[in-house]
Amino acid sequence: MEFTKKILCIGAGYVGGPTMSVIAAKCPQYKVTVVDINAARIDAWNSDNLPIYEPGLLDVVKEARGRNLFFSTEIDAAIDEAEIIFVSVNTPTKDFGEGAGKAANLQYWEATARNIAKVARSTKIIIEKSTLPVRTAEAMCRILNSNSKGIRFEVLSNPEFLAEGTAIEDLNNPDRVLIGAPQTPEGLTAQNEVVEIYANWVPKERIVTSNVWSTELSKLVANAFLAQRISSINSISALCEKTEADITEVSHNIGMDSRIGNRFLVSSVGFGGSCFKKDILNLVYICETYGLTEVAKYWESVVEMNEYQKRRFVQTMLHAMFNTIAGKRIALFGFAFKADTGDTREAPAIDIAKQLLDEHANVVITDPKALDNARIDLEEYGDKFEFIDDPYEAAKGAHAIAVMTEWKEYKSLDYKKILASMEHPSFIFDGRNILDHKALFELGFNVFPLGQPSLKHY
Ligand code: NAD
Ligand code: UGA
Repeated sequence: MEFTKKILCIGAGYVGGPTMSVIAAKCPQYKVTVVDINAARIDAWNSDNLPIYEPGLLDVVKEARGRNLFFSTEIDAAIDEAEIIFVSVNTPTKDFGEGAGKAANLQYWEATARNIAKVARSTKIIIEKSTLPVRTAEAMCRILNSNSKGIRFEVLSNPEFLAEGTAIEDLNNPDRVLIGAPQTPEGLTAQNEVVEIYANWVPKERIVTSNVWSTELSKLVANAFLAQRISSINSISALCEKTEADITEVSHNIGMDSRIGNRFLVSSVGFGGSCFKKDILNLVYICETYGLTEVAKYWESVVEMNEYQKRRFVQTMLHAMFNTIAGKRIALFGFAFKADTGDTREAPAIDIAKQLLDEHANVVITDPKALDNARIDLEEYGDKFEFIDDPYEAAKGAHAIAVMTEWKEYKSLDYKKILASMEHPSFIFDGRNILDHKALFELGFNVFPLGQPSLKHY
């Protein structure tokens, strides 16, 4: 079959893999290739044991793989062949030099741009899929267009808004797709080409075209606003615990105001994930570099509140358990940064586990999908942490359970059986407010929800 477009994605991670799989499934007329420098990742994409866990992903991959979807490590050949190149490499926080701890590390992105400029033999559209600082496209444009072959590249921004755990649903039915392009005749032609891809399944009114800078910045701002809502509600959870107000009721009550809206108001032990913290710190750094100190401080406080929420959770545990948890076995239920993913990047459980260890607790970790990543995250601690698949085994002999991830299986465990196997008095700290607190209290647990009165037998 003659393909009508040849699309390439560089970077086969959480974004590149699912995004391209959905494009390939929706558009059998296009050839979609995904490349990566990580050969093990590509092998996994070519197997039934995909490198990431995402509900529904395997079905989508199986539908298109080998037909019009290809995973490969042949990067140069794929660049040469492609007309449209999405770049979806990682853009972590810089941990060295100027801007360390805040600025985005653009070395992977730049390496990709330089390689495209080196290998390409014809004009191509280059699309920023990675989340990048505003005005990155300007630098990329310079790098790409300083080639000596006279080849012209158009650099567009098309950030991704999928959330992990619901990636396929989000990609099938996005709230909006943003496509930013230079406002030149060539830029607008390239923009139309990219609009055409998404128009295969996304209603036209949800495909928003604008200039590149607005699109780049909108991605950082969207993540900052989402994280800000969580930090806001988490700050109020602390006040609820002092006043006998109930955070779930407060969330419900304010969320009924259509101007506020009811989503992203679930109080938690803290937000995690690879992007919220990184993207806010990047926004903070950009503001600082433009001399906008107050704006930078405002957004930095969203991250500070998140750190406070994690510390506060451990303090609650410590104080509830008679000010010492040294030598006490504590079972962390969940390690992933949210349910339905095996991803543990920036998971609050990482900090909580370390803080509990600082208090000399014996921490045992259980999670249905994230234990392999948890082991890697805590590798430096040797055998100081225990990892157990079965939550019943993890809770055996424990003084306390702390819910870190809102896995639905934790709601339906036999807590009577669990209580019988634990040390007494037994504690549950529900960092996600998913359990039936009253029922657990009646069974005999001392229950500490978030932002709600605790239920104690002493
Ligand atoms: P990831 O780390 O899972 O994947 C990035 C991949 O790029 C890795 O497999 C890496 O090997 C590959 N790579 C790096 N340099 C390369 C090179 N020179 N050539 C080929 N491959 C290379 O990252 P991710 O979670 O997919 O995130 C990618 C970007 O998307 C980031 O900018 C992130 O902020 C953004 N984003 C992520 C999410 C998410 O849910 N994870 C959502 C929206 C946006
Ligand atoms: C988030 C955004 O939702 C996506 O739009 C964006 O594309 C992505 O970041 C990104 O740029 O990487 P993700 O991190 O996968 O997606 O997951 P979210 O559902 O946003 O959850 C993030 C964290 O906030 C999780 O730890 C979650 O448990 C927590 N959260 C979320 C709360 O504590 N309360 C809430 O009400 C919602």
